Amino acid sequence: MMRRVYLDYAATTPLRLQAKEAMLAALEHFGNPSSVHQYGQAARGLLDGARRQLADLLAVRAERVVFTSGGTEANNLALRGVMAKAPGQTLLVSALEHDCVRQTAAALAQSGVRVEEIPATAAGVIDLAWLTERLQRGDVALVSLMHANNETGVLQPVAEAAALAHAKGALLHTDAVQTVGHCVVEPDALGADLLTFTAHKFGGPKGAGALILKPEVAMLATQTGGAQERNRRGGTENLASVAGLAAALAAALEHLTRETEAALALAAYLERNLPAGVALVAPNSPKVPHVRQLRTPGRKGEDMVLKLDMAGVATSQGSACSSGRVQASHVLQAMGFDLTAAAEGLRLSWGWNSQPTDLAAALAAL
Ligand SMILES: Cc1ncc(COP(=O)(O)O)c(C=O)c1O
Repeated sequence: MMRRVYLDYAATTPLRLQAKEAMLAALEHFGNPSSVHQYGQAARGLLDGARRQLADLLAVRAERVVFTSGGTEANNLALRGVMAKAPGQTLLVSALEHDCVRQTAAALAQSGVRVEEIPATAAGVIDLAWLTERLQRGDVALVSLMHANNETGVLQPVAEAAALAHAKGALLHTDAVQTVGHCVVEPDALGADLLTFTAHKFGGPKGAGALILKPEVAMLATQTGGAQERNRRGGTENLASVAGLAAALAAALEHLTRETEAALALAAYLERNLPAGVALVAPNSPKVPHVRQLRTPGRKGEDMVLKLDMAGVATSQGSACSSGRVQASHVLQAMGFDLTAAAEGLRLSWGWNSQPTDLAAALAAL
């Protein structure tokens, strides 16, 4: 039988055992954390414990955690919530963002919010000179810049952008979906006023994420209802998912040194053994250990993904959300690739349960 290899961790990851066990234990508590009785109190205890654990792991106070249904919702809350409190001001969004930031910014622009795009350079990072100049002109309420790009793995200068934004009275939001659980990420060390992450990218369940925000951030709740999450996100909490999120991050950080070394070794192995005609995207830019984008000039990424899948190797063209649609990557286009070249990307990504033989199989198939 053909051995199947999964190299699409940037899309989603297998559930860690620790997360599964925490979720199964949480499922025993059916109480509503908002109820006064013993059932409610038990559920509340579990929720508060997971919140504290998560906050400790990110070096923030527990009140700063707003649980959401994942990265998409946290990004929506950050952009919509902050801009609702900043009428007449501008939102700056990088050209490299995931569609859940780009489309949210586009929807805000439709409703009258001033939105501008921060361009990127050929190295796959944002143009800091452009950002500096734009901030000088004033009127910016929020800068949204991802921590690492999900298609290329390239790390963005978030701390520098945050310092520039703060000097001009603007807030900084970072989508850290591809770094939390893969690197040491502390919102305060990055200077992020708002930080998004999601559990399923580091061995947690799908549909569970969080927005971490500074207490002084003025933000309007977008999901209104009950007073859950300190009035910042209404709705009965998804207790099992929250428990899985905290347990997955605890496990990821406990094994971070070993898993990072293993991921870097896989990256080095891939880069050393690339077949002729296959190029690494943004070869000289600092990247996360677990994501690499390749290009095969003359071959569509889409076709490569299908052929590799037939050979038993699961990869992706870029962002999972845009797979299934024939389209050129907006990330590669922002880096200066033309339409044809921007459709030739192939993303390989690995993680906590990957083996060197997985990369060897992918290279053989390539
Ligand atoms: C950079 C980035 N942001 C946000 C998301 C969306 O997160 P979720 O799937 O939890 O909504 C993804 C997932 O593909 C991502 O890669």
